[in-house]
Amino acid sequence: METFDHSGIAVRLEHVRRAFGEHLLVVDDLSLEIAAGEFIAILGPSGCGKSTLLRLIAGLAPADAGKVALHPADTKFQTAFVFQDAQLLPWRTVLENTALPLELMGMTAAERLARASAALREVGLSDAEARYPAQLSGGMRMRASLARALITKPRLLLLDEPFAALDEITRFRLDARLRELWLERGMTVVFVTHSITEAAFLADRAVVLTRRGCGIKLDRRLELPGNRGNDLRLTPQFAREMQGLLTAMEEEG
Ligand SMILES: Nc1ncnc2c1ncn2[C@@H]1O[C@H](COP(=O)(O)OP(=O)(O)O)[C@@H](O)[C@H]1O
Ligand SMILES: [Mg+2]
Repeated sequence: METFDHSGIAVRLEHVRRAFGEHLLVVDDLSLEIAAGEFIAILGPSGCGKSTLLRLIAGLAPADAGKVALHPADTKFQTAFVFQDAQLLPWRTVLENTALPLELMGMTAAERLARASAALREVGLSDAEARYPAQLSGGMRMRASLARALITKPRLLLLDEPFAALDEITRFRLDARLRELWLERGMTVVFVTHSITEAAFLADRAVVLTRRGCGIKLDRRLELPGNRGNDLRLTPQFAREMQGLLTAMEEEG
């Protein structure tokens, strides 16, 4: 079994502002601290700025004002991003798609394919290594996308509604697997979703954003067990956590 660096990366946003043009102030004076190794879910109504926030954390978009800092500072390949659309290259097999980040790192073909194979095993996709993206179901494509993100052993994993387009059973399975992977690896995970159920199942902390300006409507620690199976979804504790998030979301909706 491989050993992983268990230290996640901590994220600190201080008075961050991000506007598009003169009139669309999407993130307005947002401060948020995410601890190393935390699993945090970011919830909020559509268009409130969740994706913008994630892009700011990833360094894919600059802040107009304020500061986004990672501790320890990000070095290449320590942060991985998973989008709602799996974004696989159609002309490459699942194995070759998964190995892509290692290719960019300059690893030899033999080593990167062996690692890609191991990463696919971790997400339950070994059978589909030789297939092309067009030959996969939505859930399988997302598993491949997750394997590709995990292959560099990122210490910060950012996910933007990754399972939103999947059927519910597939989504539940992937939620459970992601939670396990996080428990095994200890990286920091920031998971954007508009699903209250998904946030409550996955995260240890949930932040609900306001409709405008990415203000923090609710910042709540979820009092649920570390190990989570799908039976958790039927328990009173789960219902109670859902209720807390639902109330905050309804007030923003
Ligand atoms: N590159 C961009 N240019 C102009 N407006 C944008 C851009 N990206 C996002 N927006 C706008 O910013 C707001 C927040 O978008 P987004 O962060 O995608 O919200 P969410 O992910 O919560 O649905 C929306 O009104 C969206 O139209
Ligand atoms: Mg979005």
